[in-house]
Amino acid sequence: MSKGVFITLEGPDGCGKSTQSRMLRDALAAAGYDVVRTFEPGGTGIGHRIREIILDTKSSGMCGITEFLLYAADRAQDVHEVIMPALAAGRIVIGDRFFDSSIAYQGYGLGMDVEAVRAVNAIATRGLIPDLTVLLDIDPAMGVARATGGRDADRIERRRLEFHASVRNAYLQMAAGEPGRFRVVGVGDRSIDQVHAAIRREVFEFLANRASCARGQSQLGAREV
Ligand code: TMP
Repeated sequence: MSKGVFITLEGPDGCGKSTQSRMLRDALAAAGYDVVRTFEPGGTGIGHRIREIILDTKSSGMCGITEFLLYAADRAQDVHEVIMPALAAGRIVIGDRFFDSSIAYQGYGLGMDVEAVRAVNAIATRGLIPDLTVLLDIDPAMGVARATGGRDADRIERRRLEFHASVRNAYLQMAAGEPGRFRVVGVGDRSIDQVHAAIRREVFEFLANRASCARGQSQLGAREV
């Protein structure tokens, strides 16, 4: 069904995804692409309310399964309301987090059954898989310090450093297992502009390859007729 292109940005807390996904959206729009950005949790009105429940430190009694199902519910709404309609209209969708976040945080971080996490996500996403996923890799201690600098940590950021280290390792493992979909961009102490340039390179190269494949296929189709 999908005529558009679905690109996600993933990474541990404090990797700079939100800033980078906005910069990428602006760069693609400036290059003439029809692009929309969304984010999880909270990219829709309903999702915004779910986000408040999940991240509020008052939700300290929330069990892991409730947390996981709330992320899945937020995702289902994002897919229904924003992502699927935009892809059907042939647009590029930039997702700031998608199901890989649940595999990394709830699957590996909280220790839930990863196959069960994948199965519920397949329902939430209706089987949608990103065409390209850019992983922004950052040392977990540096990431949490960056994320919480100047404000109170939310319920997830407050978790122990080991949790954030498991999340980071899970992401790196997932990227190694799916090299066709993932590109890894190291954040380290690079500037925002340097990270943006690296992401931009990966995304524009991906789109150029995709366009040349599509041209190749249509020429093949023309010859066959
Ligand atoms: P954000 O900082 O990217 O807005 O995400 C909010 C927090 O939610 C962040 O700590 C990562 C966490 N998260 C999960 O644990 N599982 C998920 O499926 C998603 C989308 C986010």
